Amino acid sequence: EKDQYILGIETSCDETAASIIKNGREIVANVVASQIESHKRFGGVVPEIASRHHVEQLTIVFEEAMKQADLTFADLSAIAVTEGPGLVGALLTGINAAKALAFAHGIPLIGVHHIAGHIYANRLIHELEFPLLALVVSGGHTELVYMREHGDFEVIGETLDDAAGEAYDKVARTLGLPYPGGPHIDKLAHEGQASIDLPRAWLSEGSFDFSFSGLKSAVINTLHNAKQKGIELDPKDVAASFQASVIDVLVTKTAQAVDKYHVKQLLLAGGVAANKGLRTALESEFSSREGLTLTIPPLSLCTDNAAMIAAAGSILYEKGVRSDLALNANPGLEL
Ligand code: KG4
Ligand code: ZN
Repeated sequence: EKDQYILGIETSCDETAASIIKNGREIVANVVASQIESHKRFGGVVPEIASRHHVEQLTIVFEEAMKQADLTFADLSAIAVTEGPGLVGALLTGINAAKALAFAHGIPLIGVHHIAGHIYANRLIHELEFPLLALVVSGGHTELVYMREHGDFEVIGETLDDAAGEAYDKVARTLGLPYPGGPHIDKLAHEGQASIDLPRAWLSEGSFDFSFSGLKSAVINTLHNAKQKGIELDPKDVAASFQASVIDVLVTKTAQAVDKYHVKQLLLAGGVAANKGLRTALESEFSSREGLTLTIPPLSLCTDNAAMIAAAGSILYEKGVRSDLALNANPGLEL
């Protein structure tokens, strides 16, 4: 039987990435060109700059992936590319590159949902066991996703306002920390005390939805009020208190969902999954629960990458899903 090789391409935000996955689970090439340095001075991702960087980097990145894997295009079973959600111009650069390669080499093309990708990053370290629950926490999304089988995603809860990563980035900006703020807050949080009382948005009883904008405003107000009174709050304590609130809500709601849905596996996905405090809290809560497998990908598979897109694409390929050359960017694509 011929090995399955999927080339993944990801350009939905500020990473230009290409990867090749063998038989759905083995990484044979993984290349990520980050643009963070170019966006830093603007305090966030500038869409037009992102698209221009993708165009410059794409060829270099997928050629490097082919070289790492030591494959030719004739060896590829399919090309999987992020179709959405994301920045429309950024998405289009990857989609057009994928279409050009698919057409030129006669290879099937498969559009992949970015969040499906984040979830499937977990399959690169552990086979999925259904039913499962995925806690997806990224710059654009905060969702609890229930899966009965491959490719079947039921969003049982989501953020009503800011995503967790967005809240991290906004609070970081308030504290004068560089973009992206998540890792900086994470580091400060470990050096400070969660001594400041901040709210937790539980929402209605039994709800798996999230809300982080009130917490973000509370941090801003607390800093403002302290300043007016001439009190100097230690940014480390602010970071620790903010992080404690975020983690408390994420872990508590996840625990309630795990109990309600009787899942066999709990997955962590998305850029905020790189958070040390969150990883530790999930491990202490879930790693020794009988009948439950906790899967947390390494940091490089949590933030945006193309290995996750190829991994999700592999399942679609097996299901016979194909996109045609009319594939278009879909910035608001639903899971
Ligand atoms: O998944 P991702 O790379 O891009 C999106 O699809 O959004 O997530 C990026 C987000 C940013 O908001 C970033 O601040 C956050 O992930 N992030 C973190 C950490 N590392 C990255 N947030 C908290 N703690 C971290 N260690
Ligand atoms: Zn992402």
